[in-house]
Amino acid sequence: MAHTPSRALLLENVHADADSALQAFGPIKVDRLSGSPDRQLLEAEIASAALLGIRSRTQVDAALLDAATALQAIGCFCIGTNQVDLQAAANRGIPVFNAPFANTRSVAELTMASIVMLMRRIPEKMFSIHQGGWLKTADGSNEVRKKKLGIVGYGNIGAQLSVLASAFGMHVYYYDIEPKLAHGNARAMDSLDRLISECDVVTLHVPATSRTADMMTRERIFSMKSGSYLINQARGNLVDVDAMADALKSGHLAGAAVDVFPVEPKSKDEKFESPLQACPNVILTPHIGGSTAEAQQAIGLDAATKLAKYLFEGATSFAVNFPQVEPGPIDPGRVRLIVPHENKPGFLRRLNDLAERAGANVAAQMLKTEGDLGYAVTDLEGTLADGFLSSVLDLDGAIRARLIEA
Ligand code: NAI
Repeated sequence: MAHTPSRALLLENVHADADSALQAFGPIKVDRLSGSPDRQLLEAEIASAALLGIRSRTQVDAALLDAATALQAIGCFCIGTNQVDLQAAANRGIPVFNAPFANTRSVAELTMASIVMLMRRIPEKMFSIHQGGWLKTADGSNEVRKKKLGIVGYGNIGAQLSVLASAFGMHVYYYDIEPKLAHGNARAMDSLDRLISECDVVTLHVPATSRTADMMTRERIFSMKSGSYLINQARGNLVDVDAMADALKSGHLAGAAVDVFPVEPKSKDEKFESPLQACPNVILTPHIGGSTAEAQQAIGLDAATKLAKYLFEGATSFAVNFPQVEPGPIDPGRVRLIVPHENKPGFLRRLNDLAERAGANVAAQMLKTEGDLGYAVTDLEGTLADGFLSSVLDLDGAIRARLIEA
């Protein structure tokens, strides 16, 4: 049976490649609005959208979700999801997706480039030559080859950086709270303090958690090797920046690269201020570690694919507010019933009884629950009696129900 195209509403100039990624799974009519529309326009536009794609500026709250009567899923075409009321979306059976790893490579490349630039003391040479100076000296300039790199957090970015740094001939060490498989000749260190006291360059790639907040205290910064380098392109609250500035001014640190700050301007009109300004041999960048055309394209493809796979297959892998299932394509001759529901005892049994009474055979089934929310995906064979879907919706605990044709 031919699908009637569902409508996807994409806002905030989501990358153009998202359209074809959405349509690769089935018929979708894509409508775009540039920027983040005002509330009135958004409420009018969202009413008939099955999919909503936003970036960081569009706020999606409970009231907006109530106006979105056809909405099936939300894609945040970015890393963060704070702009969406995730609980309100989950309560309404709407999964929210994002693209957390699409800019991994961009950050790893910037970190690698920063290491080279810092060890050649490029920031101060560049600043000088722009002012008419000519600091033609090899003093304090080093190759990165054979230097010890200490990576704190060996996740997606840390591991990618490990590969790049090894290719530059660096000796790579890492510290992570989880066991991680080493790439190439990289070696795990058993403590953060050992890593920072032995490495020539320490770079942070951990998330902001209660455990990582202020992980680079004044004491830790001054226990780094004298003449070493510190890089923070992860999160602004990991480092005591006053202590970092003191260590740079005293020469204890030979340089630093910082992309993220405890307080960041909300727009380009706000003035940026930091104790790190005017410190020697420091690369400061305005939180652009992951901001590249390639990352934007990868985000467009990643988030769009997740939305389309939910719409056409019911897949919720990587949803940030939903139990995760990956049921795969629907076999010919079957229909897939997807039912987000309240996590109450016996729901699946009552659902299956209903399917049986409607004349359908349960050919495959997946159920995942998370907190108060359950998500059931059921592949059915046989001709379903009229009114089956509305009787599913009438089940105690059903939040919504949808049938997907093969
Ligand atoms: P990830 O989740 O793949 O890796 C993080 C790693 O840190 C994990 O292996 C985890 O086990 C480890 N970890 C967590 N707590 C730790 C602790 N206390 N000590 C040691 N290891 C710990 O994350 P990903 O994608 O590699 O990102 C890393 C950081 O980079 C995040 O803070 C992220 O927000 C930031 N980031 C910054 C960007 C920018 O524009 N500057 C862009 C993208 C990410």
